[in-house]
Amino acid sequence: MMYSKNPETDRAVWMNGNVVYMIDQTKLPFSFEIFAAKTCAETCYAIKHMITRGAGSIGAAAAFAMAQGAAEAKNDAELLSAKHQIEATRPTARDLFAAVERVFAKARISVSAAYDEAQEVAEETAQAGKRIGEYGNELIFNGYGILTHCNAGWLALQGFGSALSPIYEAHRSGKSIFVYADETRPRSQGARLTAWELNEAGVPHAVIADNAAAHFMQHGKIQMLITGADRIAANGDAANKIGTLEKAIAAKYFGIPFYIAAPLSTLDFSTSNGSQIPIEERTEDEVLYQEGPDSEGVMRRIRVVSPESSAINPAFDVTPNSLISGYITEKGIFTTESLKFLR
Ligand code: MRU
Repeated sequence: MMYSKNPETDRAVWMNGNVVYMIDQTKLPFSFEIFAAKTCAETCYAIKHMITRGAGSIGAAAAFAMAQGAAEAKNDAELLSAKHQIEATRPTARDLFAAVERVFAKARISVSAAYDEAQEVAEETAQAGKRIGEYGNELIFNGYGILTHCNAGWLALQGFGSALSPIYEAHRSGKSIFVYADETRPRSQGARLTAWELNEAGVPHAVIADNAAAHFMQHGKIQMLITGADRIAANGDAANKIGTLEKAIAAKYFGIPFYIAAPLSTLDFSTSNGSQIPIEERTEDEVLYQEGPDSEGVMRRIRVVSPESSAINPAFDVTPNSLISGYITEKGIFTTESLKFLR
């Protein structure tokens, strides 16, 4: 299934009137469907159940949910309750909280101010991704093998992406690159979403098993790592999809640079270091079962774990700043030391 996308105009999440629309990421890559959330509660449901996901798209959806909440609220108490409902959907991505704060402040003035602010949050996120692509491309050289984890493409950050934006820009500018996409169990964002995005964009790539990255590093196939982030603490420690930490450790061992690509909205200066970042725990079912279409195209869920065993499922881990070579943002590329100038 091909989706001809224009990054300048097409978005993962958008709002028209009082309805929030989003590409249903739980259905990709097997079918392309749009989910419509008519109320703040429905948009919260979509965030919680990962119909939209990825820090930037979560932020945009949360901003729109707050605008819906403003339109629905009959008084200040209801407005505040809507804010709390949105904040309770997913705990780790900083963009969600930053977006809700911005729109909530405007909602206290008027519903239309909240709506305008939500549209601005969503568009700023997309434009940040574009700049990230331009800066990040400077780090990529012809012939590079690049490892990425999870999905940090346009599905996760509205129009261009965070980690994938430099990759798209390098590909567009004619550099020969090859992307190793970690499958990213348990929800397989790499195998399902990153692979789909790269295929649509014509970027040469392969999905690799989650435990294969160090092997490819050892054999000289990978020249750099780029991932996104869900929250970056003031000292540069970065939370991202579970499994990022072990890739960063392996990269350090082999002397391969590891970059985090993220908009400034992901930076959380109120969190001094990574140990304070809340890590989302998700249902064990995501580990116990896998889902995909059967030969007739009907979606099936099958158990892949011994029936008597249970699972533990933290959704994120924190990579310490000492393993991070730099932060690619819409304002340029920063080191752990220079991040403080963004305060
Ligand atoms: O649980 P998810 O799929 O929302 O996690 C997403 C990630 O970890 C991404 O790498 C992160 O949001 C950065 S991309 C904007």
